[in-house]
Amino acid sequence: MRIATEVTASSKEAIAERLAEARRCTLGLIEPLDDEQLNRVYSPILSPLAWDLGHIANFEELWLVQTIGGREPLRGELGRFYDAIENPRRTRGELPILRDAELRSYLDDVRARTLEVLDEANLGDDAEDPLLREGFVYEMLVAHEHQHNETMLQLLMMVDGYELSRRVGHLSPGQAPGQLARRFEYPPVREVPHPPGSIRIAAGEHEIGAPARGFAYDNERPRHMVELAAFEIDRWPVTNGEYVRFIEETSAEAPLYWEREGDGWVDTAMGRRDPVDPDLPVVHVSWHEADAFAGWAGKRLPSEQEWEAVHDRLAGVGQVWEWTSSDFLAYPGFEAFPYREYSEVFFGDEYKVLRGASWATSPEVTRPSFRNWDLPERRQIFSGIRCATDA
Ligand SMILES: [Fe+2]
Repeated sequence: MRIATEVTASSKEAIAERLAEARRCTLGLIEPLDDEQLNRVYSPILSPLAWDLGHIANFEELWLVQTIGGREPLRGELGRFYDAIENPRRTRGELPILRDAELRSYLDDVRARTLEVLDEANLGDDAEDPLLREGFVYEMLVAHEHQHNETMLQLLMMVDGYELSRRVGHLSPGQAPGQLARRFEYPPVREVPHPPGSIRIAAGEHEIGAPARGFAYDNERPRHMVELAAFEIDRWPVTNGEYVRFIEETSAEAPLYWEREGDGWVDTAMGRRDPVDPDLPVVHVSWHEADAFAGWAGKRLPSEQEWEAVHDRLAGVGQVWEWTSSDFLAYPGFEAFPYREYSEVFFGDEYKVLRGASWATSPEVTRPSFRNWDLPERRQIFSGIRCATDA
């Protein structure tokens, strides 16, 4: 009994520290910005940063204060303006959301209440509420804040003169998702030489998805067997150098943020004009472009099951999200938890799955079974390409 209590206490401390670390990342990202920049709409497909910040706090209040703690919200009806489904991104700049000093104090006030509720919560295996079992809801909130940090970084690519004021969590090149990260800064470092060639996988059965224990989102479960035909998959994602050849031969559009300069290309993200590094994985391409590249190269995109079956042997993972050929569908036996709007409402053939992680993804978010998804035309995400072929 005593041991159980100590474990719970120390894991509560660990949770509080991880929540604090996520907040340090969030505040670090906005540190160089003024209120005008936080409120500005840079793109119709991205929220103003003030919306992301208020949403981070409001989502935390909804789950960790209202749902778990049974307390009333601090700001009454405010939550409806931060509901991601009710408020499409193009509308968020017009909403009567919190701004400036009020926004900052809301973040702090919610966090203070979160820690009070955490102190009282029972997180043991015997917790009756499935939200609390193994600390699920806290894991979800830590991941949520880090995931919004990546969305915020998508927008920060559009802010001229922006410079990261702190190091952003990042997997080392070559590390498999789920391994601990080291940290470094934008632009990502190069891994040279690239491991050449491809990996051949014989036909067979593979176990896919998250195990029953431990934190994962509902769409990663249940773990199940899939039958895969023999295939080959490239060890390394498609590089900028390879992509330059593709756009020059086919007149395909250049990736987002690239501009011609003389005979070459420069990357204009954050208002920089960095020469495109031919050895880095190409990033900011749509699914349609990824699919067209693979066809041009005489290959195809891997399915998400193929990717997961071979994930621990792939290199360059952790630099760019990798588009797969798979639609975002429910696994057999899927059960929505803790709410339908996390994944279930997105299932269907409208969205494509991306696997892996990008330089902007926190290691708190990555694991082999993690499924990211987006519309096939999107390019503001940190999306790249890895090719496969039938064997
Ligand atoms: Fe969210």
